[in-house]
Amino acid sequence: MPDTIELDEVGSTNEWVRQNAGLLQDGQWVSARQQTGGRGRMGRPWLMPEGNLAASCLIRPRSGEGHAAELGFVAALALYDCCASHVDQARLQLKWPNDLLLDGKKISGILLEREQDVLVLGIGVNVAAAPLLPDRPTMSLREAGAAVDRRLFLDQLSTAFEARRQLWANYGFSAIRSDWLTRAHPAGTALRVVHTGSVLEGTFIDLAADGALRIRAGDDEEHLVHAGDVWVAGGVLTDGGKGDAAGN
Ligand code: BTN
Repeated sequence: MPDTIELDEVGSTNEWVRQNAGLLQDGQWVSARQQTGGRGRMGRPWLMPEGNLAASCLIRPRSGEGHAAELGFVAALALYDCCASHVDQARLQLKWPNDLLLDGKKISGILLEREQDVLVLGIGVNVAAAPLLPDRPTMSLREAGAAVDRRLFLDQLSTAFEARRQLWANYGFSAIRSDWLTRAHPAGTALRVVHTGSVLEGTFIDLAADGALRIRAGDDEEHLVHAGDVWVAGGVLTDGGKGDAAGN
């Protein structure tokens, strides 16, 4: 793996990698101390308080690797592996498509972008502080009692990501899918999905073979969701009972 490129201040590490893609090797990570125009999913901005991690990796697809959309799940698993070495695993949960929750609150974000024949994987992690968001609770590793430097965290993350990438290339998306499912909201979890203004409420079934979200809606119809924002609306619904509210 090439050494990480450390920038002081940048608009967006994803944009920087896109612009310099022709000069970078596969697996090159670029991180910034300060990101002033961070981009999130669905065109949202990404806020980065001082001390948090903002990093992007250039990906040149390797032989054996699957579809680009699967890479977000590969990265989310690496992020889970990494955070699990700092906080109790029981506090962590993956949320479709590639969010990581700590105590039910968002701790990180992943943004995958394409630049011609390469991909740019951007990861933001609330290492030091959680920005306040109007629509969802947030959390940081520091708040959870884990004092970790963002550069050390990126060293661990890049190693974990390389290991997950090898698993993906060697065993395919089915291996990633099953590891993702054991670390995500369990089947039966009540989910609320919002996409281009429409809302779908239902319970989580599992992931389709291509990573789409399978949901059973109130009408008992099964729906496949390929894009959208997901909130965990409540606990696991079993035998008509109510679980604990997870709140995001
Ligand atoms: C999300 O909305 O959940 C995804 C957020 C992704 C943020 C990261 S920070 C590093 C990289 N550079 C960006 O501009 N965005 C990603």
